[in-house]
Amino acid sequence: MCLVRYGRAQWIGTALADDPQLTVRGVAGPQPSRVVIDPKGRLGADARIFADNGVRRLLITAQGTRCAPPPGVEIVALPAAEGCIAPSAILSALAGYGMRRILIEGGANTVSRFLAAGCLDRLHVMVAPIILGAGGPGLILPPLERADQAQRMPIRVHKIEDDVLFDCDLSDQRVALGIAKKST
Ligand SMILES: NC(=O)c1ccc[n+]([C@@H]2O[C@H](COP(=O)([O-])OP(=O)(O)OC[C@H]3O[C@@H](n4cnc5c(N)ncnc54)[C@H](OP(=O)(O)O)[C@@H]3O)[C@@H](O)[C@H]2O)c1
Repeated sequence: MCLVRYGRAQWIGTALADDPQLTVRGVAGPQPSRVVIDPKGRLGADARIFADNGVRRLLITAQGTRCAPPPGVEIVALPAAEGCIAPSAILSALAGYGMRRILIEGGANTVSRFLAAGCLDRLHVMVAPIILGAGGPGLILPPLERADQAQRMPIRVHKIEDDVLFDCDLSDQRVALGIAKKST
């Protein structure tokens, strides 16, 4: 028997801005579990991410926060220090639900927290040749003093029509949380 254990995690900034469904569409295969990290309980019960399509739905929040998601959504309350739940604690909690392969679809805020905490195996950076003008930061990390302090990592490059995807391998700097199946 093959058991697919896979979760997609969405973060409150993106969930509020885009109201995504976080489902897989356009290809056959199992739907992933869905997770939203909402430490202050800001997401409304009618958010599309909570819609029941038969998969597990989790709401991760800070301990002591009152949340009222719709029935069937499981609440996971974790300790928060100054509003931040340690990314390692989030991954450990999800591992307890059998989720060991997590796709994080967050904005800069979330991705930066996971990167800084050494909690990413891979980072996908998509570069598209369109000019949008000034925008928000892609990553929010402390500035370096010298260019030679910059991180380099093994990458694979994929051209997708006119866009370029950099698949960055961060597994060397990953903190240990347990044994996870490595993505190929
Ligand atoms: N280009 C892309 O591929 C892409 C992908 C996804 C999203 N986006 C865009 O990014 C924008 C949103 O980005 P964003 O940086 O504002 O929001 P975000 O990263 O989606 O969410 C940030 C919020 O999530 C919560 N959060 C995340 N990690 C946490 C942690 N470890 N502990 C506690 N709380 C945590 C906090 O909520 P609280 O504020 O409630 O404390 C935080 O402010 C949207 O415009 C969206 O469209 C772009």
